[in-house]
Amino acid sequence: MTPEQARKEIDQLTEKINHHNHLYYQKNNPEISDYEFDQLLERLIALEKQFPQFKDPLSPTQRVGGAITKEFPAVYHRFPMLSLGNTYSPAELEEFDKRVSRGLEGEDYEYFCELKFDGVSISLLYDNNKFTKGVTRGDGVRGDDVSNNIKTIRSVPLVLKGKDIPEAFEVRGEVFMPKEVFLKLNREREDIGEERYANARNTAAGTIKMQDSSEVARRKLDCYVYSLLGATGIKTHEEAIKKLESWGFNVSPTYKKCQSIEEVLDYITHWELKRLELPLETDGVVIKVNNLEQQQRLGFTAKSPRWAISYKYKAQSTSTRLIGVTYQVGRTGAVTPVAILEPVFLAGTTVKRASLHNANEIARLDLRIGDHVFVEKGGEIIPKVTGVDAAKRSTDAKPIKYADRCPECNSKLFRVEGEAAFYCPNVTGCPPQIKGRIEHFIQRKAMDINSLGERTIDQLYQLGLVKSPADLYDLGREDAMRLEGFKEKSITNLLSGIEQ
Ligand code: IVH
Repeated sequence: MTPEQARKEIDQLTEKINHHNHLYYQKNNPEISDYEFDQLLERLIALEKQFPQFKDPLSPTQRVGGAITKEFPAVYHRFPMLSLGNTYSPAELEEFDKRVSRGLEGEDYEYFCELKFDGVSISLLYDNNKFTKGVTRGDGVRGDDVSNNIKTIRSVPLVLKGKDIPEAFEVRGEVFMPKEVFLKLNREREDIGEERYANARNTAAGTIKMQDSSEVARRKLDCYVYSLLGATGIKTHEEAIKKLESWGFNVSPTYKKCQSIEEVLDYITHWELKRLELPLETDGVVIKVNNLEQQQRLGFTAKSPRWAISYKYKAQSTSTRLIGVTYQVGRTGAVTPVAILEPVFLAGTTVKRASLHNANEIARLDLRIGDHVFVEKGGEIIPKVTGVDAAKRSTDAKPIKYADRCPECNSKLFRVEGEAAFYCPNVTGCPPQIKGRIEHFIQRKAMDINSLGERTIDQLYQLGLVKSPADLYDLGREDAMRLEGFKEKSITNLLSGIEQ
């Protein structure tokens, strides 16, 4: 293949992949299968490798990552990245409405409502229809240049197409980890004995600052945009949002224009439970004055705009009965109490267990078996017990005698000075500690052996074949044959995975 032919094919493939990416991520209407898409991408990767002189910094191959950023350069924001004032009740929102009305001296105005996405804010810069930089909020004045990581987010357009695109402008939005991706990531971590991440927001924040962009690509972040800066001739926020949509940006379809604060309150009620069905965590509603000239007149306080506010939903909570307390032993021997609850439906799922943190927390809550307890679900996936409904306590509620022996191996537990947790001292004989260490080990040593997950380690341990990570290396074909469901191919996979 001549360089000229390569250049031509690279251009065609780029065009084609960007088109299908757009159909998939913005239009939700793919025309080719994932397999076909991957084939196109593979072909482009191969050609770029062979002809690096034609590799565009905005090539769709950037989506799979590969760039390593040791230090993220600091970038000053052209417009400061402010935060929003918060309200927690309709009364506070009506106060906000009065302030807006006074500020506009009785003039008519409209609101534009959006959900408040729970992620990390990002500023995206474009020049001549091309993505140039992605910058974190930082301290609001200057943030970090995380462009390589942003390029892995498939719904962030790298090359723009459309009408009236300004020459240089800025878009702000929220980078988030979709709930499904977060749950899958945690399942994988659990499988290999790593601690689970607490919530999707913090995980997204940690991911966007990772040095290896291929790992960021694997984490499948997403991004919704909600503001356009530096464009001229646009009169309302609604118009800006519609323009962003038409230029290929990912806008959540949950927005609504409202004519009065009553309509805003209806929007808030409408989304209170419905938002739980959305693919990402949301924690409130953002209410913006729609007209940009009016926004300008209302201006800003030192910290936030006077033309916008957020309404925060209360954490979802309910009450149910505490049936018992069980204890979980981790890889380090730390023992964690878990509340067993009478099943109760809360924010989309049935809750049967909730976290209790430690013995001090149980004492602080003066918790007793049989108590009615309040259970709350925030951004965390594991709900927590937040209090006791003392009025409902029955006389036969039993005080909790905290475990003094390991629930797994019956060793006497001990406490480390200054730490809240109790520990099991049986490092070499307590099954969850042994299995946890092996799981942890394989994660470090050979992350790609998915044939060696939690279940296989459990079986190997039950069969008496491994007691420490070192025993993995003594496993032979006959041993592997004893594993349930293991056939020729999986046995070879398993053994060669360990050898690596
Ligand atoms: S507009 C002047 N719209 O909430 C700030 N922000 O506390 C204008 N956020 O830093 C921001 N969803 O990260 C806006 N639909 C939305 C939002 C949103 C989430 C975040 C954003 C911002 C923080 C404000």
